[in-house]
Amino acid sequence: MVVTKSPEILFLKQEDVIAAGVLDMKKTIEDVETVFKMYAAGEIQQPVKTLMEFPDPVTKDRGRLVVSMPVYLGGKINRAGVKWAAESLENQRTGQLPYGIDVVILHDLDAAHPVAIMDGTLITAMRTSAASGVAAKYLANPDSKIAGMVGAGVIGRTAIQTYLEIFPKLEEVRMYDLNRSKSEGLAQEFRDRIEVRVVDDARQAVEGADVIATQTTTRKHFLQKEWMKSSNFYAQMGTNEAEEAEILEADVLVVDDWGAISHYTPGYFAQLVNAGKLDASRILELKNIVSGKTIGRTNPAQHILFKSMGMGSEDIIVAERIFQNAKAMGIGQKLKLWDNPLWL
Ligand SMILES: NC(=O)c1ccc[n+]([C@@H]2O[C@H](COP(=O)([O-])OP(=O)(O)OC[C@H]3O[C@@H](n4cnc5c(N)ncnc54)[C@H](O)[C@@H]3O)[C@@H](O)[C@H]2O)c1
Repeated sequence: MVVTKSPEILFLKQEDVIAAGVLDMKKTIEDVETVFKMYAAGEIQQPVKTLMEFPDPVTKDRGRLVVSMPVYLGGKINRAGVKWAAESLENQRTGQLPYGIDVVILHDLDAAHPVAIMDGTLITAMRTSAASGVAAKYLANPDSKIAGMVGAGVIGRTAIQTYLEIFPKLEEVRMYDLNRSKSEGLAQEFRDRIEVRVVDDARQAVEGADVIATQTTTRKHFLQKEWMKSSNFYAQMGTNEAEEAEILEADVLVVDDWGAISHYTPGYFAQLVNAGKLDASRILELKNIVSGKTIGRTNPAQHILFKSMGMGSEDIIVAERIFQNAKAMGIGQKLKLWDNPLWL
C-alpha cells in the first residue's frame, strides 16, 4: 500500500459521474444483482439506515427528509462508503432542483481517508429502478408486454429504462402523474424506444398491466387491489402507495431489506406487522430469491408485490464503478483534506 501524508480525494460532480458511465442501465442492473448476491453470501455490512423526517409546510405531511446509509462491501470490492441523501417536496414545487439530492463518499479502509466524493443523485435514480428491475427479472412473467406506471418524475424515467432492459417484449407503458406535463415529457423522451401512453388516472395506468411500478411522492395510499389483474408483478418504490388489501392479499410479498423496512414505522408494512394484520414470516427478501435460497414465483398466475426502500450497498457498488472509470479516464477534480496533517 502506498501511504502519503496528503492523500487525494477525487471529487466528481454530476457531469463527471455521467461521463464515467452512470447512465448505463444494463450495467446498473448487473451491479445491483451482484449486490443482492453478495448480501445473501454475507459479504456486505449494512447497518439500518438512519432517517429523519420533517413536515412539509404546505401538505403538513412528511415531505422533507435526510438519510444516512453506511455500507461495507467485502469480497474483491473491499470498500466502505456512505450515501447521504435528502428529499424535499419544495424542490418539486419550484421545479428548480431534483426532489431527491444525494452525495456518496467512498473510503479507503486501511488508511481511513476518503478517496472519492461524488454526486449521488443519478446513482440513486438509476439503482432504485435497477433494483425493481432485478426483482422483476426473478418475479415477473418474462413475456410481459404492458407496463402500468404511476409517477413520471426522476424515478419514473429510470423505471421505464429498467423495464425496457428486463422485458424484451414490452409494447406499451401507460403512465399517470398528477402533473400531466411530466408524463407527456417522458412520452416525448422515449418516443423512439417505446410508446408511453399518457392516461388520466392511476386506475387506467395499472388495470390489465402485466408489470406495474409506482414511484410517487405522495404519502397517501391510492393503489387499489381490484384494479390489478391477478397475474402480474408490482414494484412499489414510493413510501405507502398500495392500500391495505393489496398488501395483505398479494400472493407473494418480497422486500429489498426487511431490516430497514421493519424499522420504518411510518411505513405501511411495519404498521401492518406491528398491528398483527400481516404475518412477517410471509415477507420474503430479494437477496434469498436472487441467490436461489428461496423461490419467489411458483406459478404464472400469482400476483407478486415487491416493496423497496433502497439499500446503501446498491449506491456504493455503482459509485465504486464510477470511481474506477473516472480514475481511468482522468475525470474529476482532486481535493485534499490538508497539505500536512497537524496532529499525528
Ligand atoms: N425505494 C427506493 O429505493 C427509493 C429511492 C429513491 C427515491 N424513492 C422514492 O421514489 C419517489 C419518487 O421520487 P422522484 O425522485 O422520482 O420524485 P419526483 O418529484 O421526480 O417525481 C415524483 C412524481 O410523482 C408525482 N406524484 C405525486 N403524487 C402523485 C399521485 N398521488 N399520483 C400520481 N402522481 C403523483 C409528482 O407529480 C412527480 O412527478 C419518492 O417517494 C422517493 O422517496 C424510493
